[in-house]
Amino acid sequence: MLIHGLLAAALTLSGTPAAAAPEKIDCAKVKCLALTFDDGPGPHTAKLLKILKKERAKATFFLTGKYVDQRPRLAKRMLAEGHAVGNHTYSHFSLTPRLYDEIHHDIRLGQEAIKKATGITPTMFRPPYGHTDERVLRIADQLDLAEVKWTGTTHDWALKDKKKITAKVLSLAKRDGIILMHDTVPQTVQAMPGVIKQLKKQGYHLVTVPQLYGKKLKSGVSYP
Ligand code: NI
Repeated sequence: MLIHGLLAAALTLSGTPAAAAPEKIDCAKVKCLALTFDDGPGPHTAKLLKILKKERAKATFFLTGKYVDQRPRLAKRMLAEGHAVGNHTYSHFSLTPRLYDEIHHDIRLGQEAIKKATGITPTMFRPPYGHTDERVLRIADQLDLAEVKWTGTTHDWALKDKKKITAKVLSLAKRDGIILMHDTVPQTVQAMPGVIKQLKKQGYHLVTVPQLYGKKLKSGVSYP
């Protein structure tokens, strides 16, 4: 019995993750929320990454290909720092009025820009302006992409005010929610330290979209 006890203790100790290991979060058991940022990388993205690191929060970035070409190192840094990256198309035009080939081309160019910058091919995409339909989803499926929309949108680009953006995010927060913001809006980035502290106080674990679902998302399927 003593040996068994010692063995159990040793296993427990060896099974304890080192302090530096990433936190394993099970969103089926704890309260999770996914903060998502569209349209970057931009001039305020580096500051946001610094804030997220300091607050130990993970986020998901839906990147616009033409801006990834301008700031490839930021895209790489997102992944290195434990965030998730998705495709927000290359040119950021509304997809639904376009021809099939144009839609396919712009999403594929977005994939290539992110692959070139990070070495990773995204498995998630978010349609600009949320404009999507059966055709867009079929193309996403062909490109092995899941569509990710949101449960709450801040309209931070219209609010352009740190206090209003903070209040909006807090009002939209709910368990397993996906909040849409833009790291291109400086007031959004300024609001993040306070927003994250408040959300943590409310018991939220700030996770990436794949962490939220606890699995790889299915291509051609729209989430949430
Ligand atoms: Ni956008």
